[in-house]
Amino acid sequence: MQHDIVTARSAGRTASPILPDPSRLSLPERAVHVWVLNDALVEPACSTLAYTLSPDERQRARAYRHARNRNYFIARRSVLRWLIGGYLSCKPESLRFSITPFGKPALQWPHAASLAFSVSHTDGMTLLAFAWDCRVGVDVERRIDGVDVAGIGRGIFSPIEEEALDPARPDSAATLLSIWTRKEALLKALGMGLSGEPNAYTTKDDLLLGEGRWCASHNGTTISGWTCLDLVLGPEVRGALAASLEDASVTLHRYSLSTWGDQTPRQADAGVP
Ligand SMILES: CC(C)(COP(=O)(O)OP(=O)(O)OC[C@H]1O[C@@H](n2cnc3c(N)ncnc32)[C@H](O)[C@@H]1OP(=O)(O)O)[C@@H](O)C(=O)NCCC(=O)NCCS
Repeated sequence: MQHDIVTARSAGRTASPILPDPSRLSLPERAVHVWVLNDALVEPACSTLAYTLSPDERQRARAYRHARNRNYFIARRSVLRWLIGGYLSCKPESLRFSITPFGKPALQWPHAASLAFSVSHTDGMTLLAFAWDCRVGVDVERRIDGVDVAGIGRGIFSPIEEEALDPARPDSAATLLSIWTRKEALLKALGMGLSGEPNAYTTKDDLLLGEGRWCASHNGTTISGWTCLDLVLGPEVRGALAASLEDASVTLHRYSLSTWGDQTPRQADAGVP
């Protein structure tokens, strides 16, 4: 009989050595934690934590045709539950999510939990962002060369962004990645994703705050009081974070083989291309 990993029960909650101790998770006010997961490295969470998933999440997992993708989904979802459970001091399996009409997941239980979170995934890597009492959005994309730079953002990028995306420039693929991730991070924080009017929003470098910082406007009006940051996650991978908190302290938690490493994004990590 094939073992159904989606319905497997864990022997205990201490689970996997790769996960941080939930009792030590602490998210200060006005801080944003961004967890950087390598799908292959967190895959063991799939077998130890699958029991925390809700029936609809298990159903979603079963819809993946390839076992590896199914395992990665289960691992991502259960690590999300594990971390939220740690921040809120409750069991990961007790969490209930609702989904807005635009597809944004939100906490339904515990009621009135003020933890904001955002999820993004690209080939092999997942970002999970958390903060209290604000809107938060995160996006990660892997660079793809040879894309139709002018065509891909039609209807999504604002005229100012389109101007910056001159396909004749040698760095146009990097610029595309930067604008794309910023825009998705912002729109995910706002909750509508790419539906609505994405081209009404413009993201651009925030020269006053420094390299890797950016700001956003809506129909020409600056959106103030936000912390918006590029996240350089590897030579081919770019991320962006948007949080409706002024001057928030942002920490990246990167998984390495032995431990979770904490890292406050420095100029070098937060650089624009
Ligand atoms: C949000 C969106 C930009 C994400 O695009 P993507 O680059 O393909 O995917 P990412 O990996 O970066 O992000 C996926 C995650 O974003 C989150 N998400 C989905 N819709 C979201 C929204 N409207 N706002 C914020 N976050 C959203 C989910 O957590 C999702 O992960 P999960 O399904 O595993 O929970 C895109 O899905 C979108 O524009 N959605 C809105 C369209 C819409 O109205 N859909 C209604 C159908 S329910």
